[in-house]
Amino acid sequence: MRRYNVPMPKKKKSSSKVIKLLVLHGPNLNMLGKREKNVYGKISLEKINNELKNEAKKINAELEIKQSNIEGELVNFIQKASKNGIKGILINPAAYTHTSVAIRDALLAVKIPTVEVHLSNIYSREEFRHKSLIAPVAVGQITGFGKESYLLGLKALVTKIS
Ligand code: DQA
Repeated sequence: MRRYNVPMPKKKKSSSKVIKLLVLHGPNLNMLGKREKNVYGKISLEKINNELKNEAKKINAELEIKQSNIEGELVNFIQKASKNGIKGILINPAAYTHTSVAIRDALLAVKIPTVEVHLSNIYSREEFRHKSLIAPVAVGQITGFGKESYLLGLKALVTKIS
């Protein structure tokens, strides 16, 4: 009996590559769910992170998620991102939004497209929150939609870079 080698069908290469993104949460965001619930809602940071991860899966993105209360640590995360193949940054700089030249400079240094998000509407609050040092170096800013700010920000970031 003659045997024929039937060639196996080649595995289809997945056309869309996974996009690596960094999600950065600034100071006091680890206290979400306990902190000023009337302003930031009852949702915990863990829950926001889980929702982001679920959403990321749907759009073929992989998230590295970090939170820090320390400005320099946030700067270090941004610097490392450029070596780790991160293609975009979603950041809620929290109080550092209004003060941090260091975070702004780090974003300028790595030149990674960044979307700034806030749970509360920073423009409807105290005047010192109306100024963001980060917004001018970001692709855009989403503010005032609670956890939706993060989810909208993620979509906006991926749309911008893909
Ligand atoms: C915040 C707004 C900031 O002004 C504040 O300092 C925060 C949270 C927000 O998500 O609404 O800590 O970034």
